[in-house]
Amino acid sequence: MRVMRKQIFVCATPGEGRCGAKGGGELLERFREEVERRGFSPQTVLRNACTRRHDEGPVVFVFPDDVWYTRVRLEDAPEIVERHLLRERVEAR
Ligand code: FES
Repeated sequence: MRVMRKQIFVCATPGEGRCGAKGGGELLERFREEVERRGFSPQTVLRNACTRRHDEGPVVFVFPDDVWYTRVRLEDAPEIVERHLLRERVEAR
C-alpha cells in the first residue's frame, strides 16, 4: 500500500502586490512552527511558486486534497493544519 503524504504549500513570492508582500514569508514560518508543534516534519510545509492568485493572497494550497485558501492570516494556520493533517490521522485509526 502506498501512503501519500500531505503537503501544505504557502506562497511567499516576493514583489509588489505578491504574496510575500502580504505576509507570505511570516505565514510560511507560522505553518512550519505549527506542523512541528503537532509532531510533523517541517518538510510538510513548502514554499510555493506564484500561481497568479496573489490578488487574493497570501494563498495556501493543500496537496493532495486540492484545497486552496486565500487571504490566509497567521491565526488561520492551526485550523488548516488540524483540518488537513490531524483529523485525517484520527479517522485513519
Ligand atoms: S505571488 Fe502568490 S499567487 Fe502570485
